[in-house]
Amino acid sequence: MTKITAVITAVGKYVPEDILTNKMLEEMVETNDEWITARTGIKERRILKGEGLGTSFMAIKAAQELIEKRNLDPKEIELVLVATATPDMQAAATAAYVASEIGAVNAFGFDLEAACSSFLYGMSVAARYIESGKYKKVLLIGADKCSSMIDYTDRATCIIFGDGAGAVLFEPSTEGLGLQDEYLRSDGAGREFLRAKVGGSCYPVTPEAVKNKEHFVYQEGKTVFKNAVFNMADVAEKMLERNNLTKEDIQWLAAHQANKRIIEATANRIKLDSSKVMMNIQKYGNTTSATLPLLLADYEKQLKKGDKIIFAAFGGGFTWGSIYLKWAYNS
Ligand code: UT7
Repeated sequence: MTKITAVITAVGKYVPEDILTNKMLEEMVETNDEWITARTGIKERRILKGEGLGTSFMAIKAAQELIEKRNLDPKEIELVLVATATPDMQAAATAAYVASEIGAVNAFGFDLEAACSSFLYGMSVAARYIESGKYKKVLLIGADKCSSMIDYTDRATCIIFGDGAGAVLFEPSTEGLGLQDEYLRSDGAGREFLRAKVGGSCYPVTPEAVKNKEHFVYQEGKTVFKNAVFNMADVAEKMLERNNLTKEDIQWLAAHQANKRIIEATANRIKLDSSKVMMNIQKYGNTTSATLPLLLADYEKQLKKGDKIIFAAFGGGFTWGSIYLKWAYNS
């Protein structure tokens, strides 16, 4: 029997119109454009504004763009996965709402949360459903309204994060394309260094906690940076080694856009030329679950059928990993 693999057959994206530039941040906290650019590579990020608008708003727009581009009947979608660290609400799956709003009336939907690795892990989950042979159309959306959990008086975090969404459609193939290999890791010791402590089940929201700003993201940047550099580079290298790939075999590195220096360190470890490194951090900052699909959307026109892409991500938890995928279409 021919092996079924999971291929990406379409992508879509959405970023909010409102732009928060480094210059604007200079007016809000003690920082400057030079520092932010040199330390992170970020020039601006998008912020979703509007009463009651959450992650689903962007996820729906990204999915609708994909549906339109692909000329897809949403009734054919069987599963909607929303990878996110900022679901619309506690105890109500954002994916269920997104599925209904895009007309995926025959689908079931659930959210997947692994901080900045949510989309990478989501690729693994989507692929398993397709490879099982039972599902033919799985929509994976990475979306985050990071601005909802950022303290805009904390210069350690407010310069980094932005809002956005990207969507990909996974379908079966018998051509040997799509997801080839994955190496996914986690280490719970990491939650001391990157987290929003209050708002979950350990520490529910109280007026006192809000007053102390404990519902916002806290990050010990240096520790996270070191772990991200070490682990992302490590898994990317492992992915090449165990698939007998050399740097010449690889067309693209699609790495989580948290910091330009981390991305470059990962590329350097696998000795990849900068022309093969997807980069859009300068435009969007760190959009958590949306970075990888936003890269695919921005680079879609340059991708060729058969291109070998190494994905890598690192995030809160800690969570991290790498995926090796062969691109399935020319656009
Ligand atoms: O996506 C999830 C994973 N997250 C990440 O991968 C993020 C990892 N961490 C980072 O990207 C970096 O650690 C940051 C960009 C957050 C910070 O860069 P850094 O090079 O690690 O800077 P630092 O925190 O060590 O700070 C260096 C200096 C400090 O001053 P002193 O103590 O040397 O006088 C900070 O107080 O820069 C100062 N500083 C700033 N200056 C201007 C910290 N934040 C700022 C700022 N503007 N926004």
